Amino acid sequence: MKAREIRPGIYWVGAIDWDRRLFDALIPLPDGTSYNSYLIQGSEKTILIETVDPTMQDFLMDYLADLEIKKIDYIIANHAEQDHTGTLPVVLARYPEAKIVCTPRCKGMLIDLLMIPEEKFTPVADKEVLSLGNKTLEFVYTPWVHWPETMCTYVREDKILFSCDFFGSHLATTDLYVKDPWRVEEAAKRYYAEIMMPYRTMIERNLHKIEEYAIDMIATSHGPVYDKPELIMRAYHSWVFDEPRNAVVLPYISMHGSTHKMVDYLVGALSQRGVKVERFDLAVTDIGKLAISLVDAATIVIGTPTVLAGPHPNVVSAVFLANALRPKLKFASIIGSYGWGGRTAEILTGMIPNLKVELLEPVLCKGLPKEADFGALDKLAATITEKHIECNFK
Ligand code: FEO
Repeated sequence: MKAREIRPGIYWVGAIDWDRRLFDALIPLPDGTSYNSYLIQGSEKTILIETVDPTMQDFLMDYLADLEIKKIDYIIANHAEQDHTGTLPVVLARYPEAKIVCTPRCKGMLIDLLMIPEEKFTPVADKEVLSLGNKTLEFVYTPWVHWPETMCTYVREDKILFSCDFFGSHLATTDLYVKDPWRVEEAAKRYYAEIMMPYRTMIERNLHKIEEYAIDMIATSHGPVYDKPELIMRAYHSWVFDEPRNAVVLPYISMHGSTHKMVDYLVGALSQRGVKVERFDLAVTDIGKLAISLVDAATIVIGTPTVLAGPHPNVVSAVFLANALRPKLKFASIIGSYGWGGRTAEILTGMIPNLKVELLEPVLCKGLPKEADFGALDKLAATITEKHIECNFK
């Protein structure tokens, strides 16, 4: 296999994981992913930027063999997570003189996670510089994108930012660069929603920080390289800074159809009033799609039957996730049907402390929804519409 040159002396030596369908045993990967590792041959030093997931170590080692790399001086570990570092022990065994360049915090994590000996590390400070002869690397701390130890690596002469997970997309493709912007942007939005959104305030700071650099190319560790960085910079700005949209996200479960009738009615009542609704049946939905919708929505309405005296367990799982992702939501409500009682609304409202939302009056009905219940749903739709108009959500 041949490495792919992205600039003179800079090669992509990563792995495309076409078949991976789950990350962290949680996050759906409908389009697979890639683990992008890069080799830079400077006039005096050779470095490797990150490695690959250990399941795909042969790809990286074959590329290095193909390039006839005899010595690696430094391996840059922008992030300690194993999809970036899992092949470090194999690379170190083949290139024992290589030192690992990372933040001090990353060093501690790599000792914990991979039991790499302490003497293998050369920690760097924020904005510290390393010369490869004809190329100059600058290390830019970008904490909490998405672990505390994360940093980016900037190559001054080529104006390339090696951004690690920042701006990444889970997308298996042979396109080295973005060829299909719409597809990449959706994959990057899914990635942002699931991995970066919980740290939005830190993302804000780090976006401002990297904007101090002239960047011609963003080479992430997942998905294609951005040879037109403005695409992903604009998208991140929108996801991070823009006001929520005039949209409701409606995850729900229905057991015998009553909650389903309420959901259908509310979707109609909202859409008639000009509010966009994205509806997710949690029995079958891809939670990544739900996460994408949470990036922009102003309101969440949770639909659930009462079962075992509380919300349906699938709803509990989705609400736990929504709370952990900390989206920009401003309003929330609950709808659903119960048989004889329960603590559904109380349990759900206690589960969302991270959501800085105004709770709108829940609509819970006994058995099938009746005229008064549909009236209450109309009232909820009208309230949501008024709130969105008052806030000028577009
Ligand atoms: Fe790509 Fe945080 O791992």
